[in-house]
Amino acid sequence: MYPFNYSGLLGRRPNFSPRRARDSPCLVHHRLGIPRHVAYNGIVQAISRITCTITRMSAEHTPAHQLHRLVETIRHCTRCRLHQTRTHAVPGDGPFDADIMFIGEAPGYHEDRQGRPFVGAAGKYLNDLLARNGLDRSRIYITNILKCRPPRNRDPLPDEIAACRPFLERQIALINPRIIVTLGRFALQFFFPNASITRVHGQARQKGGRWYFPTFHPAAALHQPRWQPLIEEDFRKLAELLQALTVSEGPVYHQLSLFPADDVDSGPGEGHPGAGTHGQADIDPPHS
Ligand code: URA
Repeated sequence: MYPFNYSGLLGRRPNFSPRRARDSPCLVHHRLGIPRHVAYNGIVQAISRITCTITRMSAEHTPAHQLHRLVETIRHCTRCRLHQTRTHAVPGDGPFDADIMFIGEAPGYHEDRQGRPFVGAAGKYLNDLLARNGLDRSRIYITNILKCRPPRNRDPLPDEIAACRPFLERQIALINPRIIVTLGRFALQFFFPNASITRVHGQARQKGGRWYFPTFHPAAALHQPRWQPLIEEDFRKLAELLQALTVSEGPVYHQLSLFPADDVDSGPGEGHPGAGTHGQADIDPPHS
């Protein structure tokens, strides 16, 4: 029926004879005086050991494995004073291949307790903002400038930001997100040191082949309800940006079909939502 004999392609050599193979001279075992089956077993074991080593070495170099090791390093970090007062370090949460990364300021009370970012009141508001705009938190990597909670949620100090900086830089290099959303003044100024959050919030910009989208910190908006329309408008713009990126550069992630077609209102209002963005005193238990 077929014009060719396909047996060779399917793994059988047409002239192969197991008996001839078994009886053919083996230089190694003849020269060294090793029985044939021992010589064969040794070769098979050596090949399998080499294959295992190569597989393990290449697995150790995947971004996922390296991110896992980085997370462990952060959990045990003692680079600055904050390790003395933390309960848990909070390295970050989300898929290692996320297209979108959110960066906040520093863990608060609940984050410090649980070792996970944005799980307190600010986190609930963030979840709400995401859900209202059809964004799935489980597809986003979320982390902070500082990985440990500053006492009483005070602002991060410059030396603490400097000590933590390599961790965030490494997370960004390994995850390689297409867009970074900065929440609040500290995250914005990590990338754009002279930028003012009140001036640039809600405006995407590109730097080094990556998109950056600054917005206010959810905790700041919780403290100052008049800032909530601004952050909510920013999240609508973010959804539009992700939709535009999907059209021009391919899907940012698969839930994009859920985006609503809301129009965006114009113009930011006044105020200084960037100042003291961390301010989470409201989610702390009462201090004794
Ligand atoms: N505020 C932050 O900046 N990060 C958190 O993880 C929680 C609150």
